[in-house]
Amino acid sequence: MFPPLTTGYEERDGSIGERSLAFYERLARGGVSYIVIGDVAPVMTASPTPKLATDAQIPTFKALADAVHKHGAKVALQLFHPEYDVPGVGRMVMGSMAAAKAAQEAKAAGDEETFAAKMAESNEIRKQAYAKLHHDMQHFVNEASVEQLTQIKEAIAASAARAQQAGIDAIEVHGDRLVGSLCSAILNQRTDEYGGSFENRVRYALEVVAAIKEAAPQLMVEYKLPVIMENPDGTPRGKGGLQPDEACEFAKLLEGAGIDMIQVAQANHTGNMGDTIPPMGAMPYNWTLPVAERVKALVSVPVATVGRVVSVEAGEKILEDGAADIIAYGRSLMCDPDIALKAATGEPIRECLNCNKGCVDAIQNRKYISCVLNAENGDEATIAIKPGEGDKKIAVVGGGIAGLEAARVAAKRGYDVTIYEASDHLGGQIVLAAAPPRKDEIMRSVEYYEKILPGWA
Ligand SMILES: Cc1cc2nc3c(=O)[nH]c(=O)nc-3n(C[C@H](O)[C@H](O)[C@H](O)COP(=O)(O)O)c2cc1C
Ligand code: SF4
Repeated sequence: MFPPLTTGYEERDGSIGERSLAFYERLARGGVSYIVIGDVAPVMTASPTPKLATDAQIPTFKALADAVHKHGAKVALQLFHPEYDVPGVGRMVMGSMAAAKAAQEAKAAGDEETFAAKMAESNEIRKQAYAKLHHDMQHFVNEASVEQLTQIKEAIAASAARAQQAGIDAIEVHGDRLVGSLCSAILNQRTDEYGGSFENRVRYALEVVAAIKEAAPQLMVEYKLPVIMENPDGTPRGKGGLQPDEACEFAKLLEGAGIDMIQVAQANHTGNMGDTIPPMGAMPYNWTLPVAERVKALVSVPVATVGRVVSVEAGEKILEDGAADIIAYGRSLMCDPDIALKAATGEPIRECLNCNKGCVDAIQNRKYISCVLNAENGDEATIAIKPGEGDKKIAVVGGGIAGLEAARVAAKRGYDVTIYEASDHLGGQIVLAAAPPRKDEIMRSVEYYEKILPGWA
């Protein structure tokens, strides 16, 4: 399974364009059987995530479903709502843009006074919009009216209905963000029927599930169950979502509500990516698995596990132990989309370093994701290794990481390649980079080349 990963590859209006399509089709071609499209918003937001908020967008999602289905894979949309008043902030941003436009028109007409006044107005509204966004991220969960929550639920259901029309196979309910904040005993301070007791805190989540099932009865519904795990020092990790005991109780309620599959994951709150996507050395491998195992013992629907399952061997062991039914490889599939195909043939897999450099850092800087080890990410439609021209002998001077990748690509193109390395080991400066505490996982990059280089033992 490819779990939800916001990519930034979508078009400006959130529709699926060529870049997105090529990325997801590449995963399906590599043998991924179930692909989840991360953070699909049911409303128009300023965030660079996919959006299925209007009927006009349905054909682009149909193209996605068709492309993935060609390779036998299934595709889900992870529907989410951010934890802020989207229309409220949106109106302010539009107001700021309108004032800026009026300022530019005044400038073009030589009216400097109006230009200055309109620019000041635009900046002031923008400042207020950011202040509201910041405030909402902390407080919207408690301040949203029942009417607002109902509208959000209806928007999610309408988006699910559009997904069904597009031929999408499943909806994944994003148990984090607004829904997870409502479930949380830490963040949710409401005193109405959506706050207080466990039953009240999970009420909205169950209502969302019911609304999706009613609006899109042909679709499978999966739930990303956000669990507050423990940090290595014993402190709780994250504030949204549910403590393990409550998560297990909730899993049973979800099964009763007709959920088809549960993905047990680390809880994340107010978009804090570090909680769910720890870099190398920060959390143990498979750190959410103990709760997945508990959930699996309680429900009869399939349970997926996600989080630092880096190798195929680790995934196989989880399946053999019966600890989970489905293995989600997130960053690992960014790094090598052919995990499934290579597992079948025994070809070495380029394993993710959990460095978070090309993927998480890019998203946090509002760019699109790419992997430091995979030059094709996001450019699958245009970049591919092509056969070489004629018989050439290539000498690569230096077995550092760049030399090794150049050699790999040249060999794939059919050239006769020799690497010349002065020292007795490969990797160059990567070996230094891996020396500090908690950085040794970087060496997976070099180990991959050691496995694929003929003559290197
Ligand atoms: C760049 C990036 C974007 C992500 N976006 C989402 C998202 O949109 N929704 C979500 O629920 N999780 C998101 N995640 C978390 C992943 O689904 C997954 O839980 C996490 O990467 C841990 O799995 P891994 O160790 O196999 O990468 C994202 C992860 C990454 C690396
Ligand atoms: S950039 Fe690093 S963490 Fe992200 S997918 Fe690539 S190797 Fe993995």
